[in-house]
Amino acid sequence: MNVIHTEGESNTAQARQEWNARQNDPASRELLRRDADAFLHQSLSSPCVSTIAKAEGIWIEDLAGRRYMDFHGNSVHHIGYAHPRLVAAIKKQLDDLSFAPRRFACEPAVELAETLGALAPGDLSKVLFTTGGSDAIEVALKVARAATGRFKTLSFWDAFHGAGFGAASVGGEATFRSQIAGPLMTGAEHVAPWASRNCAYGHDSLEDSARACANMISYVLGREGDFAAVVAEPMRATPLVPAPGFWKAVREACDRHGTLLIFDEIPTGLGKTGRFFSHEHDGVTPDILVLGKALGGGILPIASVIARRDLDVAGDFAIGHYTHEKNPVTTRAALTTIAIIREEGLAERAAELGTYAMDRLRGLMDQSPHVGEVRGRGLMMGVELVEERGAYKPARELAERVYYRSLEEGLSFKISAGNVLTLSPPLIIGRAELDKALGIVEAAVLAG
Ligand SMILES: Cc1ncc(COP(=O)(O)O)c(C=O)c1O
Repeated sequence: MNVIHTEGESNTAQARQEWNARQNDPASRELLRRDADAFLHQSLSSPCVSTIAKAEGIWIEDLAGRRYMDFHGNSVHHIGYAHPRLVAAIKKQLDDLSFAPRRFACEPAVELAETLGALAPGDLSKVLFTTGGSDAIEVALKVARAATGRFKTLSFWDAFHGAGFGAASVGGEATFRSQIAGPLMTGAEHVAPWASRNCAYGHDSLEDSARACANMISYVLGREGDFAAVVAEPMRATPLVPAPGFWKAVREACDRHGTLLIFDEIPTGLGKTGRFFSHEHDGVTPDILVLGKALGGGILPIASVIARRDLDVAGDFAIGHYTHEKNPVTTRAALTTIAIIREEGLAERAAELGTYAMDRLRGLMDQSPHVGEVRGRGLMMGVELVEERGAYKPARELAERVYYRSLEEGLSFKISAGNVLTLSPPLIIGRAELDKALGIVEAAVLAG
């Protein structure tokens, strides 16, 4: 189940307590106790808020048999949980070849590398696999360093790129940067990201904000002159869609100053936003693309770096060297997932259903002054709750109440930035299920 990204105390503690009380059946209570006892505690993870016994399609089910539509899924569940075709492919691969030591080429790994190279834009066709997204970001950083002979990176405050030291350094989220004694990675510099008009960066419009952000990136790249890479998600996870022309301006600035552009498409890639890659919306090609999460089909962990062919310059060094770098089972899972997404037309489905859902959710703005904005791309959607539309003040307590009310009604999602209901269902969701979920959100918001 999801964890809420809220900041500060809230007077909706009652809703939280009621929820916790619901986890009071003996089986759930005992598993939660053992979980809290066995795992190192950390923010946004352990102790857990609920249990899970089953995950199938868009649904998760807890130990007490309560079912929830999962509109978060850690962004792994594009094809739904336990897709039968994927489960069958994994079982078969386990029988055929279950592991490959790194220096032995195996068919599924090579085929996946070739497939990603063919799908990626431009001449991005040299690939390396890792087990998780954070590691893949770090491989991308190493490639950028090796290719440019520079070490500095420019990225956004508030962004998340993974929990490793390098990834957390280019990330800009306090939760992942604080309380680590000693310095993070040298040379990881940040700028304020673009924001919506509701956000508190002092701009009247998304366009103004994006222009200021692109100008700042261009200024810093030129002023310091020695950045290896700009690292960013093409669409911010909050979610925040870039203004038209933003990435073109950043791309040009990178080209002017010999800086590579690394797109982290770990949550946005593979059809989620209505295109196979999110950056396709912006008409800009990165130098290095990073995928992860849904690549393993919601079952297995695998991530990938896809770099421009001429960035293959570190052959004498180990830039990844992960134990499961060429695992036939995880690569088979990724190949099958890509085939499902393409053959079932899931990117197109995300575009169509996302447009429908966001239009419907915008109807809430006529009924509630607390809906500041509805935004997103494809099935990565956000409903920003504010105290009063127009005057930016995040409605964090309302967001928390909406969250718990929705859970009570069988819908799970994440809250971003404390006040943005972040709705990201699997791309296989049926229209009736989507309508049901939207109805739950609408009723929870209107209940105030
Ligand atoms: C944008 C982004 N980059 C990187 C990561 C890290 O991926 P992983 O958890 O697989 O290391 C995440 C995970 O949430 C992410 O959302």
